[in-house]
Amino acid sequence: MCGIVGYVGDRQALDVVVEGLRRLEYRGYDSAGVATVTAGVLHTRKRAGKLGNLEKMLAESPLPASTVGMGHTRWATHGAPTDRNAHPHLDDDGRVAVIHNGIIENFATLRHELEQRGHDLRSDTDTEVVAHLLSEEFEPAGRDLAEALRRVCRRLEGAFTLVAVHAEVPDVVVGARRNSPLVVGVGAGENFLGSDVAAFIAHTREAIELGQDQVVELRRDGVTVTTFDGEPAEVRPYHVDWDASAAEKGGYDHFMLKEIAEQPRAVADTLRGRIGPDGRLHLDEMRLSDDELREIDKIVIVACGTAYHAGLLAKYAIEHWTRIPCEVETASEFRYRDPILTRSTLVVAISQSGETMDTLMALRHAKEQRSRVLAICNVNGSTIPRESDAVVYTHAGPEVAVASTKAFLTQVVAVQLVALYLAQVRGTKWGDEIAAHVRELATMPEKVDQVLDTVEPVRALARTLVDARTVLFLGRHVGYPVALEGALKLKELAYMHAEGFPAGELKHGPIALIEDGLPVVVIVPSPAARSVLHDKIVSNIQEVRARGARTIVIAEEGDAAVEPYADHLVRIPRVPVLLQPLLATVPLQVLACEMATAKGYDVDQPRNLAKSVTVE
Ligand code: M6R
Repeated sequence: MCGIVGYVGDRQALDVVVEGLRRLEYRGYDSAGVATVTAGVLHTRKRAGKLGNLEKMLAESPLPASTVGMGHTRWATHGAPTDRNAHPHLDDDGRVAVIHNGIIENFATLRHELEQRGHDLRSDTDTEVVAHLLSEEFEPAGRDLAEALRRVCRRLEGAFTLVAVHAEVPDVVVGARRNSPLVVGVGAGENFLGSDVAAFIAHTREAIELGQDQVVELRRDGVTVTTFDGEPAEVRPYHVDWDASAAEKGGYDHFMLKEIAEQPRAVADTLRGRIGPDGRLHLDEMRLSDDELREIDKIVIVACGTAYHAGLLAKYAIEHWTRIPCEVETASEFRYRDPILTRSTLVVAISQSGETMDTLMALRHAKEQRSRVLAICNVNGSTIPRESDAVVYTHAGPEVAVASTKAFLTQVVAVQLVALYLAQVRGTKWGDEIAAHVRELATMPEKVDQVLDTVEPVRALARTLVDARTVLFLGRHVGYPVALEGALKLKELAYMHAEGFPAGELKHGPIALIEDGLPVVVIVPSPAARSVLHDKIVSNIQEVRARGARTIVIAEEGDAAVEPYADHLVRIPRVPVLLQPLLATVPLQVLACEMATAKGYDVDQPRNLAKSVTVE
């Protein structure tokens, strides 16, 4: 949720840190701060608001040159987003600085104990206790900052990534990780820490993934990783296969626009290497044997937000292809209702970031019940795939905009792959039927591209909708999750009330909302595949239009039945019914992005949101 960068080397630490924070700003942007050490003195600057405010402060009040530093962008959990609560936080003497991502659950007790011992805590944050505890432990730990941090970590409860520097060890940065992400970037004569690799990708593509409950000590010439108990820890070095330009805007006004445009490539990359010449699927990271896959008698999907909508779509694909009963649940609700899980239940955790705490906790609950867990994830080596039995990576590349676009499309592709793969292994459908669908799947990059070529009128339409008080989205079958996704995009980007409904529910209540001029977006199923459903939704369009709604209809090419009832018609290519969401979602992404732009809102960093929600 917060962005963290650490650096030790020969360059100006502040330049590296601020550049890293810029790349991580999508993680949180309530406030930002930095700390550096120069000649045995700790220096900090911090400011509420976006990173630009901190940069302005640094320009007005520069820090002395330093080759050791760290920085933070915050998404507030404890304490308002003010200068005072911005990170770094210091001990009483201003010798130790700490930045933090996560929540320290026992901070109130620790704070009380520290105050009893005479410490003066100046912020409302949970983080500040760590600075004071580190200060207390520094001498007893033999002035070894890593050892002091290990001692402190053993006393903390909750989820945290911590990074700290100390005025008296000016060539060291230390970090700790429990349940929140932290990655080491390994350079030549310099080393980095980051909440994710975007923080240091401009400098090195060699990374080390820290595991749970590990402490890292970073020096110019080396990296030492231990457990919280001080034992040498096993680490996984890896090479990052995307470069800095992939995380830049590449000429687009917003990352979101760039990421929408990247969808054909993202879908193609997610399919690449997984379809054999005979149409058979190969999922190399599946890591569950065919026998294990044959034992599955129930599938439960857990995810949040947009990933949950991909999960809803997975149910249609999984039940159709495999005939295995499939449930979909919002991850934050899952473990609190005592779900029925057995060894033969497969839990599928879908997450772009692989760090969403609600999804991670659902996954852990499933593992405690001995269920097998399959992750569908975009970030290589993140916590969710690491803790899962199997993984299918979506190869969307880095998604920076808070609103998920290309990650969603690739999640939808991945769930299709999983459903078809299970059908292949379990023999629930004929091989040629699977191969025919796989061939259709392989054409989707081109078809998404065709949709992107025709969205200009959607932009113009969006500009006419900015004064609407509410927008309704209707869909049936796989169009229903698309309707939910369209509504979510509009809420998070254009700060507008929007609701997605199954169109069949209209007459059970929502139709009362229809009034003159109310925009209603309708996703129309293919007339070919399920004509009854198609005809029913055409009736639904007529019903809302008769009551004054302004209808915006997304329908396949050649579907003439919708024409008389559509105030605005958006055409998408004809594809098999289960694949239609890959196309129908795209105009809705464009609609929301354009409405937010027209309203003057920050498209990439909508208010109150963070890219990865790493607290529950
Ligand atoms: O990283 P995850 O896929 O686990 O994130 C889940 C949701 O937080 C995320 O999809 C969120 O709803 C997006 N902002 C939607 O655009």
